[in-house]
Amino acid sequence: SLSFITFALPFNLIFIFFIFFIVYKSRMSNKIIIINGPNLNLLGEREQSQYGSLTFEKLKENCLNKSKELELTVEFAQSNIEGEIVNLIQNARKNFDGIIINAAAFTHTSVAIRDALEVYKKPIIELHISNIYKREKFRQKSLISDVVDGGIFGLGTDGYILAIISMHKLLKNEN
Ligand code: DQA
Repeated sequence: SLSFITFALPFNLIFIFFIFFIVYKSRMSNKIIIINGPNLNLLGEREQSQYGSLTFEKLKENCLNKSKELELTVEFAQSNIEGEIVNLIQNARKNFDGIIINAAAFTHTSVAIRDALEVYKKPIIELHISNIYKREKFRQKSLISDVVDGGIFGLGTDGYILAIISMHKLLKNEN
């Protein structure tokens, strides 16, 4: 009857709203960005003894596969330009729930990238393919380590997969 419909309508609306909220929420906390700094686009041809033989394209594919398996949406970005990386980090505040960053050479030089990361209030993982503490003196200092949640270094390109697994856990625990 009509009175039943008018009675039930608000409950249906609340139910529909609730479903949208759940879907929205589950999507929201599943988007991450992997940011790669200068020269990482040359993976596979560059200093194989430090960085291995996996190409950048193949690494990207492996990261996308792992993310899919964990039901994470991942954006795999690379730039040789410091300001572009700052922009990526700033935009991530709105668009991504976590950042995995291999800032490459900028790790050791960029106050701007450090400052941008400091403003980002969600999980950040620092990543290096090589063990930066076992290399030249100028690589043994990271300007970003104390503004990130955790880091991975020296485990080769597998570090990317490990970082994705850890980020997945960090985001799950937040929900
Ligand atoms: C690196 C280490 C940096 O010192 C270097 O400049 C890179 C890559 C790494 O992944 O091991 O470009 O971040």
